[in-house]
Amino acid sequence: MSRAGVVGTDQHRRDLSGSPFLAAARGERPSRHPVWFMRQAGRSLPEYREVRRDTGMLEACLTPELACEITLQPVRRYGVDAAILFSDIVVPLRAAGVGVDIVAGTGPVVEHPVRSAADVAALPALDADGVAPVAEAVRLLVRELGDTPLIGFAGAPFTLASYLVEGGPSRNHERTKALMHAEPDTWHALCSALADTTLTFLRAQIAAGVDAVQLFDSWAGALSERDYRELVMPHSARVLAGLADAGVPRIHFGVGTGELLGAMGEAGADVVGVDWRVPLDVAARRVPPGTALQGNLDPALLFAGPDVVEREVRRILAEGAAAEGHVFNLGHGVLPETDPDALARVVDLVHAGP
Ligand code: CP3
Repeated sequence: MSRAGVVGTDQHRRDLSGSPFLAAARGERPSRHPVWFMRQAGRSLPEYREVRRDTGMLEACLTPELACEITLQPVRRYGVDAAILFSDIVVPLRAAGVGVDIVAGTGPVVEHPVRSAADVAALPALDADGVAPVAEAVRLLVRELGDTPLIGFAGAPFTLASYLVEGGPSRNHERTKALMHAEPDTWHALCSALADTTLTFLRAQIAAGVDAVQLFDSWAGALSERDYRELVMPHSARVLAGLADAGVPRIHFGVGTGELLGAMGEAGADVVGVDWRVPLDVAARRVPPGTALQGNLDPALLFAGPDVVEREVRRILAEGAAAEGHVFNLGHGVLPETDPDALARVVDLVHAGP
């Protein structure tokens, strides 16, 4: 039986020993090359826009039946090898009582940015009851998904901290970097609190039945390796270590992290996500031995037509053969204007093999 099949005592966990995604994530040879897409559930799908028409983003995330339906949409349409829970990295913050909303076209916006030791001390802690609707969505999905694994996820402390400190999306992360360097004690207290929140959120998802987890440190690529290792990695490592006993594969991903791939693997990942900037055969040499890779088609190239996409998919499959295991994905999320048929063709190409 697979590791996922024997994990813990949770009655909801399925035996998915035949899953190509889980096999590749463990560095084994899968029966076919697995593929899924970051942001596969979302705005590129007409069926998503239809069900989201009258519902706010965070409300949708916290409505189990709706989150379940949206998670299933890309699985039905594309036949991808994994589902990713429809949620958002700010859901646990909102569930804990932080004033945060997701503004369409902008992203997360925080009512009272966190910039001082007093702000950090006032941050509410998350308890598992707060994310009960997310756990319920996972339980519904485990029943609906058959033999398709479900990936749970959370934001890593740095990326969450960036939203809290900046008050919203940021190009340069200047307030965040200022806090890190000018007030390191406050910074570490903030990341430590966020690591607790993230652990609670991911453990709740695992207990409810997710088969793998992805830690999104989307904006870590803004940091030097030195700053990453000193000021960020210990907190992400605590999250990843805190999940080790669950036995589900842990994926660790960021954008523009070519210089950080080794450190992100050392932080405790079974799979490191790679954006499109570093070829997978190069990435394979940068991560610790035994680490699988996930990626790395540039999502913008899905607009370049079928010939370009086919050439790129074949190149990535060939380069990915150098890894200990390769899960095909994009290098970042599906862009909202993407033609769903272009993604369907990618799935067929990946499944057909090199
Ligand atoms: O991958 C999936 O299909 C699952 C869904 C998912 C969402 N957010 C849904 C969403 C996942 C995995 C996330 C994670 C997330 N959220 C990250 C990490 C991944 C990454 O892209 O790097 C980050 C940084 C966020 C924060 C966030 N939430 C941003 C930057 C945005 C986009 C803002 C915009 O409108 O352009 C969101 C909103 C969001 N999260 C949407 C979706 C489907 C769009 C909102 C909508 O449909 O109204």
